[in-house]
Amino acid sequence: MIDFTGKVALVTGGARGIGRACAQLLAEAGAKVLVTDLARQVEGLTYDTAGSSELERTVADIVAAGGEARAAYVDVRDFTGLQGVVEQAMEWGRLDVVVANAGVASWPHTTWEATEDQWDVMLDVTLKGTWNTVRAAVPAILAGGRGGAIVMIGSTAAVKPLPTIGHYAAAKNGLVGLCKSLALELAKDSVRVNLVHPGGTATYMTENPQAEQWQASFGGGATLELPMPVKRMEPEDVGWAVRWLASDEARYVTGTQLVVDGGATL
Ligand SMILES: NC(=O)c1ccc[n+]([C@@H]2O[C@H](COP(=O)([O-])OP(=O)(O)OC[C@H]3O[C@@H](n4cnc5c(N)ncnc54)[C@H](O)[C@@H]3O)[C@@H](O)[C@H]2O)c1
Repeated sequence: MIDFTGKVALVTGGARGIGRACAQLLAEAGAKVLVTDLARQVEGLTYDTAGSSELERTVADIVAAGGEARAAYVDVRDFTGLQGVVEQAMEWGRLDVVVANAGVASWPHTTWEATEDQWDVMLDVTLKGTWNTVRAAVPAILAGGRGGAIVMIGSTAAVKPLPTIGHYAAAKNGLVGLCKSLALELAKDSVRVNLVHPGGTATYMTENPQAEQWQASFGGGATLELPMPVKRMEPEDVGWAVRWLASDEARYVTGTQLVVDGGATL
């Protein structure tokens, strides 16, 4: 049975969506979870990122369910801020698991017509933000001498090409190389690094007017003609895969990419 009792986890972008599900599932299995989010608007995006009430609600829901969690505010573009939240996690005495989940979306007309701002925000949050999260957390994980697990959230956009979001695909493909290099570097310390590629999942990132318009331009979007009869993949569907990869049941799984998409990329 998957058991995180006594372990401490840190989740970025945890206020809602996939990050919230990861935080809840880790806490349900006994982890103490520092749920972090920027919890204000990311400038330049055309949909709302999470607010502080969503972050506080995620923590309150975990506590109400009998789990242990705290909230911390951090933008993954802020390395010093991330070092600060790692210190907050270390108030529990250790750090074992990091879920580097924070990411953003934008929908240019075509990739080559994307603005520099769309490109920069995408790469800064989704790729550099993940690197920032890892480089802030690794010293604390290593200090424990017990190994640990880092799970990054990629996307099927890194597996199967989609038009118009080449900047998103570039960021998520960047995570593939980052994950593999880190997995090699950290293997000797029993710190595992893996990447989960979700398919279309029911979160506000995909369920806002602009995303829906973009999906409609493909004649139905990510859930059209899947091999599995998937209607709506829920955040927990991704969270269960993340929790397994973070657990001791995956103790020799490192440097891998796990696609969770109902067969969409087959
Ligand atoms: N929903 C999908 O269909 C889908 C598919 C593939 C991959 N993903 C990936 O899953 C991850 C989570 O996405 P989601 O669907 O839950 O979206 P979401 O927008 O519901 O959640 C993302 C969270 O990240 C936070 N965030 C955004 N920028 C941040 C920053 N700079 N610093 C800290 N936090 C920040 C937001 O406030 C929000 O709470 C992302 O990396 C996304 O690319 C989502």
